Amino acid sequence: MKPLITLEHVTKVYPTGRGNVTAVNDVSLHIREGEIFGIIGYSGAGKSSLIRLLNGLEKPTSGQVLVAGKDIGKISGKELRQARQEIGMIFQHFNLLWSRTVRENIAFPLEIAGVPKKERLKRADELIQLVGLQGRENAYPSQLSGGQKQRVGIARALANNPKVLLCDEATSALDPQTTDSILELLVDINKRLGLTIVLITHEMHVIRKICDRVAVMENGKVVEEGEVLHVFQRPQQMITKRFVQQITEPEETKETIAHLLDQYPTGKVVQFAFAGSVTERPLIAELIRNFDVKINILQGKISQTHQGSYGVLFVHIDGSHEEVAKAIDYVRQQQVVVEVMTHESLIS
Ligand SMILES: Nc1ncnc2c1ncn2[C@@H]1O[C@H](COP(=O)(O)OP(=O)(O)OP(=O)(O)O)[C@@H](O)[C@H]1O
Ligand SMILES: [Mg+2]
Repeated sequence: MKPLITLEHVTKVYPTGRGNVTAVNDVSLHIREGEIFGIIGYSGAGKSSLIRLLNGLEKPTSGQVLVAGKDIGKISGKELRQARQEIGMIFQHFNLLWSRTVRENIAFPLEIAGVPKKERLKRADELIQLVGLQGRENAYPSQLSGGQKQRVGIARALANNPKVLLCDEATSALDPQTTDSILELLVDINKRLGLTIVLITHEMHVIRKICDRVAVMENGKVVEEGEVLHVFQRPQQMITKRFVQQITEPEETKETIAHLLDQYPTGKVVQFAFAGSVTERPLIAELIRNFDVKINILQGKISQTHQGSYGVLFVHIDGSHEEVAKAIDYVRQQQVVVEVMTHESLIS
């Protein structure tokens, strides 16, 4: 698939009273048409700066930002306003107009674009259906729940039929259940409208639930990037491992493993990371049958990603040095990523 968004060596430096801050540092990315692309990073990593470069709210200090064939960093005035109609955006705190009703909020971008009243109200009603706000057309934002407010935000962002929807921590102010319903809505409009979605978050669950690919940002740089399942199974950077652990390892797991490493000097404590169909195989039964080892299951978890299942299993394998090594080799040959746990591998 051809990229809809291309960043080539993009850098954003903010001059401040206390010197320059490099918020985005030499980032190159290709985001494909129709995909849901996630960018994850901790606070201050440069995520919002990056997403604002995508709709021209910020200009790159150097490098090129292409969205739907337009050089967003170079254009301005009318040309930029036109290009922006292809790019919708939603925010953590919704940014609604408090003195306007749901319908008026949604119709607002059409008003700006000079669409006649009758037409824009018709379009607003279509969008109200799309985001499931029927019956709330005449409510004011203050009368809505957080989830409903974000639905208004989404409908408004879609008013001009954009090709891209940018989401800056769009679910960070919502409770887990409401977050899920908004994520489902995003997947639904991605499928129904073929809309490309770029979302930024600091929560790996958001990436897990809806993204096709993910980029990890740290100190203004993209340090790791790939298909979600691949990155979950084979995280390379320490920061990525930490994010993946948000999903697979509760704090107790680390304590339990540390305790076991002290308790069982023989054998190995290992982590198996599975992706896709291997999660359905009786791997432990195969190990017990084929090797002279004892296996104690410590903890396991399978989670669903947008691309298929991903699982992690911690086991203690005991037996002679040789049999344990053979068993581990066998698992490695089954497309399972094996990590032999040590105190050092228990990052916090
Ligand atoms: N307008 C600005 N002027 C000066 N510095 C800025 C400006 N905007 C952001 N920064 C700095 O750039 C860096 C990246 O900020 P940015 O808001 O892009 O990070 P973020 O990943 O979105 O963080 P958060 O998760 O807290 O929203 C930070 O050090 C921030 O202080
Ligand atoms: Mg931010």
